[in-house]
Amino acid sequence: PKKKKKTVRVYMDGCFDLMHYGHANALRQARALGDELVVGVVSDEEIIANKGPPVMSMDERMVMVSSVKWVDKVIADAPYAITEEFMNKLFTEYNIDYIIHGDDPCILPDGSDAYAHAKKAGRYKQIKRTEGVSSTDIVGRMLLCVRDRQILETPNHASLQRQFSHGSTPGQDNGNASGTRISHFLPTSRRIVQFSNGKGPRPDARIVYMDGAFDLFHAGHVEILKCARDYGDFLLVGIHTDQTVSAHRGPHHPIMSLHERSLSVLACRYVDEVIIGAPSEVTKDMIKTFNISLVLHGTVQESEGVRNI
Ligand code: CTP
Repeated sequence: PKKKKKTVRVYMDGCFDLMHYGHANALRQARALGDELVVGVVSDEEIIANKGPPVMSMDERMVMVSSVKWVDKVIADAPYAITEEFMNKLFTEYNIDYIIHGDDPCILPDGSDAYAHAKKAGRYKQIKRTEGVSSTDIVGRMLLCVRDRQILETPNHASLQRQFSHGSTPGQDNGNASGTRISHFLPTSRRIVQFSNGKGPRPDARIVYMDGAFDLFHAGHVEILKCARDYGDFLLVGIHTDQTVSAHRGPHHPIMSLHERSLSVLACRYVDEVIIGAPSEVTKDMIKTFNISLVLHGTVQESEGVRNI
């Protein structure tokens, strides 16, 4: 008989603050390097010590990482650097074969490489970092949005700006005095295919439809999508166009573009398919075309979290 192939378990760690499709794409690539992906979410204390306070709490960051469809297991309160001791724990307790990180250098405050031990042990692999998005960039876009709205009031975002003084100063490399946010994301058909499940509904499936802006994809969105998925066997999510979102929420919204929002929703394990640019009203035609059994809408306005910024 053929010998059963050993399961390859890979480990990726990170802060995953203000989780975005760059993080999801990193997790997707990591998962493709093995059969099972274990993710370590770095503790608030370790992030504070190494790069300044995170925006999202440990709990929220855990929810976001766990919601990604390529993740098999999540470890809370992971250390920022892979110490020899933690590496051995990964090998013995979690049966990890490889430790994975993006191809950006990860330097500790003392100048050493956070993955030096893993590299030395020959257990390190790299994935390609996703250009055009980062947590710092997202904070920059949010600050521009707040600045434009409150331009006549006393600026109250100085502390937030200070928090993110590591990396580039938000908004300053934009070079656009009017403060228009710029998405540097170049959506390709291949990227959308990579994020897709590539499966349609079974002929007898109960198809549930939910639409929305899903801007700055957060734990509240994940919860509502999980609920929606439980109503049927196939969850189709309509992502509103940038124009629709602007018309409802004002000229500085959405913060993330249609394609960025679509990828974040597609990466969610409860979602089967998205409509990239859905109308704000569900038409009879859509119900027929997509064979929708049930249209759901949340009772809490999903923009609340965004408005509080
Ligand atoms: N990552 C990536 N592409 C991005 C951002 C992050 O591939 N645009 C990868 C990182 O290389 C890392 C993992 O996602 O392997 C987790 O990243 P994280 O620790 O959250 O932090 P950063 O690299 O600082 O990313 P960001 O600035 O967006 O927080």
